[in-house]
Amino acid sequence: MDAFIINGGRRLSGTIRVNGSKNAALPILAASLLTDQPVTLSDVPDLADISNMLRLLDDLGCQIKRTPASQDAPDDLTITADPKGKSHAKYDIVRTMRASICVLGPLLAKRGEARVSMPGGCAIGDRPVDLHLRGMEALGAQITLESGDIIARAPSGGRLRGNTVFLGGQFGPTVLGTANVMSAATLAEGLTVIENAACEPEVVDLANLLNAMGAHITGAGSPRVVIEGVKSLKGANHRVMPDRIEAGTLILASAITNGQLTITNCPIDSLLALGDRLERVGIHTRATSETGPRGERSTVEVSSERVLKPVQISTHPHPGFPTDLQAQMMALLCLADGNSVITERIFPERFMHVAELSRMGAHLFRQGPTVVVSGVRKLVGAPVMASDLRASASLVLAGLAAEGQTTIRRVYHLDRGYETLDKRLVALGADIERINDQALDA
Ligand code: EPU
Repeated sequence: MDAFIINGGRRLSGTIRVNGSKNAALPILAASLLTDQPVTLSDVPDLADISNMLRLLDDLGCQIKRTPASQDAPDDLTITADPKGKSHAKYDIVRTMRASICVLGPLLAKRGEARVSMPGGCAIGDRPVDLHLRGMEALGAQITLESGDIIARAPSGGRLRGNTVFLGGQFGPTVLGTANVMSAATLAEGLTVIENAACEPEVVDLANLLNAMGAHITGAGSPRVVIEGVKSLKGANHRVMPDRIEAGTLILASAITNGQLTITNCPIDSLLALGDRLERVGIHTRATSETGPRGERSTVEVSSERVLKPVQISTHPHPGFPTDLQAQMMALLCLADGNSVITERIFPERFMHVAELSRMGAHLFRQGPTVVVSGVRKLVGAPVMASDLRASASLVLAGLAAEGQTTIRRVYHLDRGYETLDKRLVALGADIERINDQALDA
């Protein structure tokens, strides 16, 4: 397994482009199952989760063709699904990636049945799929559980039926659940209204693709999404939105090293809650050029004040502060001048980074879903362990700022969501070496 050795204390400077969004690309790839015509996608990041989704689509009878795009962009992907392909997403792939659940809605809507292995929990919590299932049942599907698999069947005649679906759970709306029900409803008979839909930009990106395929969706990005079912969908071309969590992580990397990064292809319109908190801390993000009606692909310059101020943060569904940036923000606040308070409202157990940051000299006091971050003058390098994707990113940020050497084991967690982050940070002035962790034990 790979590990990083980071020699901290170097300021980052230069220009970096944000890659396409992993969390937008995953349900978008699954949506290609809704048509037998080619769907061509650009800016799909080259990540382990994406390869796993492509492996799953291949297993479900999709042809996948790669076409080289421009020099610094990943290959375009064209997916052509064979509707007579299998409808069984097996455990050996689902266990590698929870987002495999995204194929449930498209398979059920297009093939009339789906068998998807039940995804397990993960380091950030239990992560049930009850809302996905409730949504499919509301569209008329019959759901049973057999040998750890979810088996879903459309009503007789093979077509789902539109309905009003309330998608709220204990922790708010569900992002992938909204994606699943919205995708399934595109081919249902009649009108579907999703109430308490997730408003995340990734849901909007999926709706844009589905509409380009001939679906009739309105309201995506608001808590009420209305879908008028159609009989069939056609192929389409779509460019995946930039990754707002990668963009936020890069902004925080600039901030924590007191650096000066220019970030291009930055979806600053999706990062307003981060921008608001950072202003209070003393980190400024300024868009120098804006592309897209709301600045979805802006160029952003990051600058920092010398003394960072503490701040209070609660994670919330979009447009609130994203849970996927909580760990990275905590790394920054470790170096603020005073006490910050962070409350995690989406995944109350998502604190695997707390113990590891403490090993680096952070003063953190956790009580339930809340952590008090008592700022320290410096972090110090230490051997630490990556445990999940965003916790790993927070350890990289802490390592960049720390005095001395930090060794991070199990960076495969990081590689699931950040394409060659080590190389890209090195190009900006960081000192990071990727090694095989057996070398550390020798
Ligand atoms: N929930 C339920 N029942 C369900 C589904 C969700 O109770 O059927 C709960 C969850 O346990 C959680 C809350 O509802 O407490 C929200 O979960 P959600 O369903 O929105 O999460 P998700 O769709 O499975 C996506 C992202 C996550 C991100 C969350 C929240 C992808 C592939 N994953 O997960 O991203 O944290 O939304 O924004 O899009 C990451 O990228 O590191 C990551 C974990």
